[in-house]
Amino acid sequence: MTEELGRLKFYEYKKVEENLKPELLSGLRESPKHISPKFFYDKTGSQLFDQITNLEEYYPTEKEISILRDHINEICSMIGENSALIEYGGANLRKISIILDHCKGIAYYIPIDISTIYMQSSVNRLLNQYEDLSIMAISADFTKPIRIPDIEKFSRRTILFLGSSIGNFEPDELLHFLMNANETIEEGDCLIIGADLRKDSEILNRAYNDSRGVTAAFNLNLITRINREFGSGLSPELFQHFASYNGEKGRIEMYLKVLDNFEMNIGGEEIVFRKNELIHTENSYKFTIEGFSDIVEKAGFKVGKVWTDEENYYSVFIIVK
Ligand code: AVI
Repeated sequence: MTEELGRLKFYEYKKVEENLKPELLSGLRESPKHISPKFFYDKTGSQLFDQITNLEEYYPTEKEISILRDHINEICSMIGENSALIEYGGANLRKISIILDHCKGIAYYIPIDISTIYMQSSVNRLLNQYEDLSIMAISADFTKPIRIPDIEKFSRRTILFLGSSIGNFEPDELLHFLMNANETIEEGDCLIIGADLRKDSEILNRAYNDSRGVTAAFNLNLITRINREFGSGLSPELFQHFASYNGEKGRIEMYLKVLDNFEMNIGGEEIVFRKNELIHTENSYKFTIEGFSDIVEKAGFKVGKVWTDEENYYSVFIIVK
């Protein structure tokens, strides 16, 4: 579906919502049970994630913003004139505003996100805030190849993938994702990618177990979502948020812990839940500069630059095709 309203073009690749229920149910049927992190981002989940990014314990946002600010002139010269700025998982208003405030050669801002509702509200705010900005918003699952209309007509294309969302891919998915991105852009174009770095496990565990319980609410919102999708009656009180850093694998692992034995009819099937069972909901990989550079090169790119903050908590990679 395409809609054109003045400075906004909106493309909805419908497949996302149609495939949702079978995928959710098959993860609950398996042992161990799992739910893909992409199901976090309904309206409430997207709002809770926004709140997470403002938490004191969740350092990636502030670190990334400070790196973007420190290097904004270089970023603008990379983006160039008559260019398309493509953002996967857009748009975090605080981050994109830094770029839109400074870089004046952007002909089209192209956010691509699975959550249509989340994207629509940020897109409307950006159209009001930036009177000369044109936006092509694409509602799609960016883990699959996406065709961006007329992308070849711009002088340059830059892909932004911020917030260390690359950390939510498994290593093979990350490689595929980068290879897909490689097909979207052309020789000389680049990607700007935020990657969270390995560090003391205490700092990591605090970031995913915040004192106000926002991350717990974000994780538990999956139960509310399952109930809404299937009309089931799971009580969120029967589950507990659990997140812990696995140093061997270099990742935060997030689960919903089942607090009692029970059965529930979900989508016409009796699903058995066992006390203390862990339902896996997310991995958030943390990188080393060398490790991430290797993956980037495997995908056919060159590492142009790597910027970090003073404490080496977080990095922003400039990757060149
Ligand atoms: C979106 N993504 C990069 C976040 C992360 O840190 O992995 C999602 C998140 N999960 C819990 N807190 C934040």
